[in-house]
Amino acid sequence: MARPTQELLDRARQEDWYHSIQLTPDFVTSGWFDLRPYVDAYGLPERMDGLRALDIGTWDGFWAFEMERRGAEVVALDVDDERELDWPPRRRPAQPSTKPRGRGFELAKEILGSSVERVTVNIYDATPEQLGRFDVVFCGSVLIHLRDQLLALERIAALCSDRLIVAEEYDRPTTLLPFPVARYCADRESDIVFWLPNVRLWKRMLWTAGFDDVAERTRFKLWDRTRAFYVRHAVFHARKNRT
Ligand SMILES: C[S@@+](CC[C@H](N)C(=O)[O-])C[C@H]1O[C@@H](n2cnc3c(N)ncnc32)[C@H](O)[C@@H]1O
Repeated sequence: MARPTQELLDRARQEDWYHSIQLTPDFVTSGWFDLRPYVDAYGLPERMDGLRALDIGTWDGFWAFEMERRGAEVVALDVDDERELDWPPRRRPAQPSTKPRGRGFELAKEILGSSVERVTVNIYDATPEQLGRFDVVFCGSVLIHLRDQLLALERIAALCSDRLIVAEEYDRPTTLLPFPVARYCADRESDIVFWLPNVRLWKRMLWTAGFDDVAERTRFKLWDRTRAFYVRHAVFHARKNRT
């Protein structure tokens, strides 16, 4: 891999990062989330050679680059303009984002010499006609921010030909209940979260959307550096046995 120019590295140092990404042997971006200690919890296949993978809601691309490193051909999907996110009306931004979401991704891609293709598509509008189908679909902390989690899961099922890996926040108190349920959180000011499902409901929704062999792989607490608290996450694996 060619050494990145000083100009690229200077830009990377000035960028605001969501993900901590090791861009060179001695430079890691200072992200809002450092996912490196949690990679094993997600359970990606060790090697992904010959597989086509989709990273939904890629932001700076941590998972897209990780899957590429394991040998996959990767497409990374996100929106650029934060107005496209599912904001509740009272908090929806009136102006376009000052920093389009893909800026860090493109910089990291160039420095890493990556071939990941980033597409600017809302998951609600993503179709196999446009993107093709994927052996592995990865979706990390995206559904939790959507008003219509089931519609997004239906779109994801149509894009997936084999495996799905999902990691999402879950509601701890209601996870103790013996039935699937979500807590209403749309008025929570700190984040965009409409429905916070318990673990049973996440599994149920995956099945409803068309996935089979739905299994919880693990639970862990993800450290949010800027807000200084842990966010409870569960990882689910599922298969798409029927087309
Ligand atoms: C909390 S971040 C998670 C980033 C990354 N997947 C991870 O696991 O660290 C949520 C990402 O989902 C994207 N996103 C939110 N709503 C989306 C939508 N409707 N369609 C596509 N991407 C969306 C956001 O732009 C953001 O990049």
